[in-house]
Amino acid sequence: MKIETALSPLLFSKIKHLEDKVVVVIDVLRATSTITTILANGASAVIPVREESIAEDYKAKGYLVGGERGGETIEGFDFGNSPFHYKPEIVQGKEIVLTTTNGTKCIEMSASAYQVVIGSFLNLSAVIKHLKNEQRDIVLFCAGWKDKVNSEDSLFAGAIAYSFMSEKLDDSSLLCIDAYNAAKGNLFKALQNSNHFQRLASKGVTKDIEYCCEVDIIDLVGVLKDGKIIRV
Ligand code: MLT
Repeated sequence: MKIETALSPLLFSKIKHLEDKVVVVIDVLRATSTITTILANGASAVIPVREESIAEDYKAKGYLVGGERGGETIEGFDFGNSPFHYKPEIVQGKEIVLTTTNGTKCIEMSASAYQVVIGSFLNLSAVIKHLKNEQRDIVLFCAGWKDKVNSEDSLFAGAIAYSFMSEKLDDSSLLCIDAYNAAKGNLFKALQNSNHFQRLASKGVTKDIEYCCEVDIIDLVGVLKDGKIIRV
C-alpha cells in the first residue's frame, strides 16, 4: 500500500489516480469531528455541501441545516459547526445538511476517489481498522485553513500514517508522523499555539477543541455514498 499526505487542498490537486484510492478527509477542528459526532448521535446521514446557497435550498425543502463561515454560525441555520449543537434527540434518524469553510469543500474535491472516509481523533482506531480492511492506497487529505497547512490536520494525518509504518510512505506522511509523535501525549496542549485553536478560543468555544482532541470515544466510520455521508 502507498500512503500519501496532502497537507492542503492545493497539494491535494497534485494527487493522481484518485479513482483507485481511499481518501481520508481530515478537518479535525471541527468539520470532520462534527460529522462523526452527528452520525454517532443517530443521524441517518450528513449531506455535505460546499456552497451556503445550496444549504439554503435544502433548508427551504425542510431539512435541518448546519454551517459556519470563518468559524461563525451562518445566520438562519439550525446549527453552527459545534459538535455540541447536534444533540441526539434533534438529529436522530434525520439527514443533516452541513456546509463549512474548509471541510465540506474538501469532501466535494474528493468525490471521484474510490472511497471517501471522514477522519477524526474521536474515531481514530475505527478509521485505521477500516483502512486496513480496505487494503488500498490511501490519501490523507488535510483540509488546512483556506488552502494553507494547519497543525491539527497534519497531526491527525501523522496518527493514521503511524499505523502504516511498514507501507510506502511519502515525505509529507513522514513529517506528520514526527509531529504526531511529539504531540500525542497531550494533543490539546500541542495545539494551543495553532492558528485555528486561537481563532476558535477567541470565539469562546475552547470546549469544542477539548472534545475534538479526545481519542477513540466513537466506534463508527463515516463514508461518502451518493453525496451523503453514512456510517459503515
Ligand atoms: C472548516 O470546515 O473550516 C471548519 O471546520 C471550521 C470550524 O468550524 O471550526
